[in-house]
Amino acid sequence: MTPDGPWWTRSVVYQVYPRSFMDSDGDGIGDLGGILQRLDHLTDLGVDVLWLSPIYPSPQADNGYDISDYTDIDPLFGSLAQLDELIAALHARGMKLVMDLVVNHTSDEHPWFVDARSSKDSPKRDWYWWRPPREGFAAGAPGAEPTNWQSFFSGPTWTLDEASGEYYLHLFDRRQPDLNWENPEVRQAVHAMMRWWLDRGVDGFRMDVINMISKDLRPRDGSPAGELHDGPPLPGSSLGSGYASFICGPRIHEFLQEMHREVFAGRDGPVLTVGEMPGVTVEQARLFTDPARAEVDMVFQFEHVGLDHGTSKWDVHPLRMRDLKASFGRWQAGLAEVGWNSLYWDNHDQPRAVSRFGDDSPRYRRDSATCLATLLHLHRGTPYVYQGEEIGMANYPFTSLEEFADVESLNHHVHAVTAGQAPAEVLAALRVASRDNARTPVQWDGSPNAGFTTGRPWLAVNPDHVEWNAEAQRGDPTSVLAHYRRLIALRRELPVVALGAFAMLLPEHDDVYAFTRSLDGETLLVVCNVSRTPYDLTALLPEAVGAELVLGNLPDAGAELRPWEARVLRPAA
Ligand code: NOJ
Repeated sequence: MTPDGPWWTRSVVYQVYPRSFMDSDGDGIGDLGGILQRLDHLTDLGVDVLWLSPIYPSPQADNGYDISDYTDIDPLFGSLAQLDELIAALHARGMKLVMDLVVNHTSDEHPWFVDARSSKDSPKRDWYWWRPPREGFAAGAPGAEPTNWQSFFSGPTWTLDEASGEYYLHLFDRRQPDLNWENPEVRQAVHAMMRWWLDRGVDGFRMDVINMISKDLRPRDGSPAGELHDGPPLPGSSLGSGYASFICGPRIHEFLQEMHREVFAGRDGPVLTVGEMPGVTVEQARLFTDPARAEVDMVFQFEHVGLDHGTSKWDVHPLRMRDLKASFGRWQAGLAEVGWNSLYWDNHDQPRAVSRFGDDSPRYRRDSATCLATLLHLHRGTPYVYQGEEIGMANYPFTSLEEFADVESLNHHVHAVTAGQAPAEVLAALRVASRDNARTPVQWDGSPNAGFTTGRPWLAVNPDHVEWNAEAQRGDPTSVLAHYRRLIALRRELPVVALGAFAMLLPEHDDVYAFTRSLDGETLLVVCNVSRTPYDLTALLPEAVGAELVLGNLPDAGAELRPWEARVLRPAA
């Protein structure tokens, strides 16, 4: 790493989920025109990079994560000309654009899959994963799936194609068939598409579930090479976990290095690559992000967003602060010398952080939102802000199944109820864990549709927008928005925030999250009370007493660390 580090060590990325950001044409669905209208919001916030969730042509089975054409824009969102306009407008403001790259799978309506499905002899057949029924089973019979893997979106990862009598693989929904990365033609097609976008002016990619593209075909227990294998059975299910077969599979580093060579090597200009990697370990992340290996700049890891999960994401437990400290601490240490962290609480797949890890009661919503933000942004890594997080948007008060739209939530409901779980219990889990919590429209103002659309929003606007909206916060120096602005500026101002070494303090404390960052003789002490209990700071961290307050989230900081108070301090030398 150069002494100043790459540009993205000083940068903050803002994620736009286009469908819910801003609608410019009144159809109730956000679009590129809407993003263009709201660019001042991003400039005002001070973010450096905009990551755009998929806007490509898509049947929208998974809100665009099912792509049917990689080199165009879905008319729902606008046109290529508007995307060019967005690239130019962002560049003129000194910002960069990162596109979502979804290449573990395509849509089942992508011409590649349509062709592959048309005949066993199709030249595209091998671009996807096709297998006959399990030996001894008739096609379509229960248990005939080629492996026992459970899909991320419930049910088996295999769907029978009646016409050919073979099954195709889909780790997600059946409308998202997995591409076969073993086939060099697939890889070349993806590389060509990525170059096409870079030539158009985009500045990088967020790579969807990229650590799943290599499936393990190595021989096992005397079986020949080329076979996929069952995984360990999942409790209470006839299915098993295929993780060992596709999370960071045997050729993943080779595929990413090849991609780097074919797409990024020798290009001028700064790009950013971030690989979304469920199940990645810190040891693996170090390999993925070691600049000498030329794979990706950083990864999204999932450890901290799994700490409140029991047997599945639908089995939610309160987060224990000690577990979060142990996890974040390990990632900070693991990527201290080599590699780089990305930092996030929220995205379009996670419930809202203020409701999940904070306290969204009226008394503490603002304080906990700003406390969580301080905690995250003062870590070493590149912070990601998910639309609405910067104004403290909270989970939606869902009361019935009809209010949900997400394929993961709806599939889960069908499977859980069929398996005998009480519908009320399933609904209760959806309320807290559904991805739709993150997908309600951005709350721009207090008007009936929160300024998001003049039409009928595709997903209901949270009724709390009357109070919680960007307009109300813009001129208020005590707002969540103002606090995010200050945090983002601080990273750019102070090299110690970008690059300082991290040391965890009070690892066993249940409520106070504290650490230091240090660089070239400068030290910052960060203290966050992630609870409703006040603490005596003098007893807890004597070095905090008399320290200069660099940034805090509550006025009049004294000897007591108040509920959800966060301070960034410069201790006396
Ligand atoms: C991860 C994406 O973030 C999520 O929204 C999507 O459903 C899956 N990958 C499948 O593409």
